[in-house]
Amino acid sequence: MYQRREITTQERLQQEQFCEKIKSLIAHRSHYALVDTYGCQQNESDSEILRGWLVQCGYELTNDEDKADLIAVNTCAVREHAEKRVLGNVGALNHKKAKNPELIVCVGGCMTQQPVMREKIKNSYQVVDLVFGPHEVWQFPELLLKTMERRGRRGNKSRLIAAEPSEGVVAEGLPRERDSQVKAWLAIMNGCDNFCSYCIVPYVRGRERSRRPADILAEAKALVAAGYKDITLLGQNVNSYGKGLEEDVDFPDLLAEIDKIPGDYVLRFMTSHPKDATEKLFKVMAESQHCAHHIHLPLQSGSDRILKEMNRHYDRAKYLEKVAAARKYMPDLVLTTDIIVGFPGETEINFEDTLSLVEEVKYDAMFTFIFSPRTGTPAAAMPDPVSRAEKQVWFDKLLDLSNRISGEKHAAYVGKTFRVLVDGETGQAPYNLSSRTKGGRLVHLAGDPSLVGQFMDVKITDSTTWALYGELA
Ligand code: SAH
Ligand code: SF4
Ligand code: F3S
Repeated sequence: MYQRREITTQERLQQEQFCEKIKSLIAHRSHYALVDTYGCQQNESDSEILRGWLVQCGYELTNDEDKADLIAVNTCAVREHAEKRVLGNVGALNHKKAKNPELIVCVGGCMTQQPVMREKIKNSYQVVDLVFGPHEVWQFPELLLKTMERRGRRGNKSRLIAAEPSEGVVAEGLPRERDSQVKAWLAIMNGCDNFCSYCIVPYVRGRERSRRPADILAEAKALVAAGYKDITLLGQNVNSYGKGLEEDVDFPDLLAEIDKIPGDYVLRFMTSHPKDATEKLFKVMAESQHCAHHIHLPLQSGSDRILKEMNRHYDRAKYLEKVAAARKYMPDLVLTTDIIVGFPGETEINFEDTLSLVEEVKYDAMFTFIFSPRTGTPAAAMPDPVSRAEKQVWFDKLLDLSNRISGEKHAAYVGKTFRVLVDGETGQAPYNLSSRTKGGRLVHLAGDPSLVGQFMDVKITDSTTWALYGELA
């Protein structure tokens, strides 16, 4: 049975004491730590906390594997491809450990939350010293200290496999080393209760739980005060924010509250499930000062039968209604989506329903995936007669369509001027800077690196399928 569990200040302070202990253990020389992240923004956000803990433990951060005394891999389980990459890279760490037996290897994230995978790592990846799940990020210092204390013991006793089903954790006040000084993640909730039939996330991330609005608002205020210009609210399904809280608040209410924080910044969010995207949300977005007019509204399929099998709780007509409503409130809306090709039992006719819906909606960008069976999900047990080769043909067809539409959408930007946020350097002349429109489209620019972190007016001069090119206006 699910129980929300808020980590107490006492428990957090205890973790900070573990940090002090680790600090004294590694104080005799500089120690370096590397955190490698796979998967979604939620994982990026968790990795920032891991880095925060590591810095508090006395580590310096590095991107150089050869220099690292500790490597933490934050994994993703959403598709088999992601898991294979992780296992390949973890296996390759054997060489590093042979050279440096002191190296500590930690594997965390969604993959480790699956019992099968935990066993696999335990039995076949001896290089790994510590396995921990997404629910244990808050107590990483304790687990790391235990791992250090176990070193030198024989065989499996030297290793710590900690990932447990502790599903309802909500932790505030954890340290965080942010990747960027311009863009910030702000996790507003964790977990997912939707159980789409193909998806592993609800099993590995646990039940949906929201942070309290006061905590989120305080963090948002601190980010704006610290000069962040682009804040992305994160959740697997932000539209169900607020369920189970004592406070009477839903996602549009939260968005409207954050929007009141004065300052020059853009507010984004990821991801909204179409079934819970309401007119109230579109209205708040349209009326807000800071909110990007961008929605990522994962479609998954354009076929009513497949949507039902996927347990998505909307059909084609309902989805199109939501898109029309969103565009009514925001005529300049940027719309992006996710689509799965080759769900078990999908036929060519079902697939063509997806093509026709895509053609009708005309997404600015799409993320397309071939169905990957995930052990333990209902879809993994459904008959799946279509060959991989045929699914690939469908996939390529969808990609061609998506590229054509994105190309056309991008071409329409040329000649117009937009206010963009310069968010980084590309390292590639002549377009040495990258920036984003308020709707989130990528614009390459030439300009002085000191512009990073500033809003600039840019005239779009050229476009491709994937990006826009511009000059300072
Ligand atoms: N919570 C988000 C999505 C998280 S996973 C949402 O519901 O929108 C990101 C995307 O991965 C999904 O939208 C889906 O398109 C894809 N995906 C998830 N499980 C998959 C699977 N088993 N095979 C292929 N793609 C999958
Ligand atoms: Fe997965 Fe569906 Fe939850 Fe998204 S809403 S994380 S696709 S179960
Ligand atoms: Fe992957 Fe976990 Fe995110 S499975 S997509 S990292 S929630």
